[in-house]
Amino acid sequence: METTVLPAPGADDEAAFLAAYPAYARTAAIDELRAAEFSRVDAQGEIYLDYTGGGLYAASQVRAHAEQLLTRVYGNPHSSNPTSLRASELVERSRAHVLRYFNASPDDYVVIFVNNASQALKLVGESYPFDGRSTFLLTFDNHNSVNGIREFARARGARTVYVPVVPPDMRADAAGVLERLDSLASPAANLFAYPAQSNFSGVQHPLDWVARAQERGWDVLLDAAAFVPTNRLDLGAVRPEFVVMSFYKMFGYPTGVGALLARRRALEKLRRPWFAGGTITVASVQADRHYLAPGAAAFEEGSPSYLTIPAVDIGLSLIESVGIDTIHARVRCLTGWLIDALSTLRHDNGEPLIRLYGPAGTEARGGTLAMNFYDRVGRHLDHRAIEQQANRERISLRTGCFCNPGAGETALGLSKGELDSCFLRSTPRMTFDQFRICIDPKSSGAVRVSVGLVSNFADVRAMRNFAAQFLEWDDGPEDC
Ligand SMILES: Cc1ncc(COP(=O)(O)O)c(C=O)c1O
Repeated sequence: METTVLPAPGADDEAAFLAAYPAYARTAAIDELRAAEFSRVDAQGEIYLDYTGGGLYAASQVRAHAEQLLTRVYGNPHSSNPTSLRASELVERSRAHVLRYFNASPDDYVVIFVNNASQALKLVGESYPFDGRSTFLLTFDNHNSVNGIREFARARGARTVYVPVVPPDMRADAAGVLERLDSLASPAANLFAYPAQSNFSGVQHPLDWVARAQERGWDVLLDAAAFVPTNRLDLGAVRPEFVVMSFYKMFGYPTGVGALLARRRALEKLRRPWFAGGTITVASVQADRHYLAPGAAAFEEGSPSYLTIPAVDIGLSLIESVGIDTIHARVRCLTGWLIDALSTLRHDNGEPLIRLYGPAGTEARGGTLAMNFYDRVGRHLDHRAIEQQANRERISLRTGCFCNPGAGETALGLSKGELDSCFLRSTPRMTFDQFRICIDPKSSGAVRVSVGLVSNFADVRAMRNFAAQFLEWDDGPEDC
């Protein structure tokens, strides 16, 4: 067995952390909130480090929602009887709250309630007026639900252009982005999509790309799903045509509700490929015609989730009571400490245990860390083994590629040739595991940890101590 130098965990860690990150002390209200409203986390001994996967909810959110449901009667808002009017009122209260929360003027933006960010993205993709002159421009580190829009673009003859991100920081070269934005050949409909925060690397791309793209004639689709849980998004200052999000990522409950925030004038540009209950003012079978409803209604297909949408109002109130800037400050401190703590874990020969895929500082990055583990001679430790061990210790982290193949391919150094050779095999379909084995059974994924709303120092220290045990792991004989 190798001799390793384990860091000495203990109370000193916390004192050193507090000294290094004095801003953390100003977020103490979150400790009180965690004790009062999230006590189930510590009572169950859970170390929750998957906030980018899904946020956690406060007990009071569920109680307030249950109270709402248990004390009144609600009907489908598509009717206009007393129970449906009551449901409509609560849905509209949530809609107005979303606009207020993001400082979006109701004259400029509408809120379209959907099931999740993916459905919001699909609404944009299927309705955007791509044609043979259009370009769909996007960064490499988009979530698959953004990447999927390229299929709509392709079907209408538009070209898709990706802007690479560059390791180890995983940022896009800003000059390269502007160059591509400048290269707009045609005044047709052109769409630029990027994540305000990458769900892989935690990189926060500049929000000023929005105005720069718009000045050059682009419409902008901002994927804010991983950004809004811990960052302020001010739609009075930055005004993309389309913004998507899932509310469970912000405040845990309810699942099944997301939003497309769209600028009114951009909405007019969209062409709905079909109509459904709720999206029209009139449709006729015999005349074979229909009129779309104005604004958000044209996009909310079928009955809205009228019993869960009201819980968005409750969730936003919780975030407001804590303050998004307080949440942001706390996440920034914990992220900074965790990056440093993981980076200083070294094998006895000085080789790093962990390679981080993303910025090594807290500037323009969120609390999402993607990494892989290596032994003392630089051999990769299988991320699935790391996950199994985490599961044994009740640490909830995530492994794989996090639905972000472009960032994954870049981080892991996979070339187009390698990927093509697996896709071009004569199998009609491949499972993820078959594909992984085709590429390289070991290095086709990463480990992701993410902090959020009620993370505390004990959580990140647990992660550092968990990671340190792998200094003693040996992944196999050196010459295999
Ligand atoms: C950046 C980003 N975009 C889009 C999504 C898709 O969100 P949902 O699965 O809620 O549709 C996610 C989910 O993790 C995400 O992190």
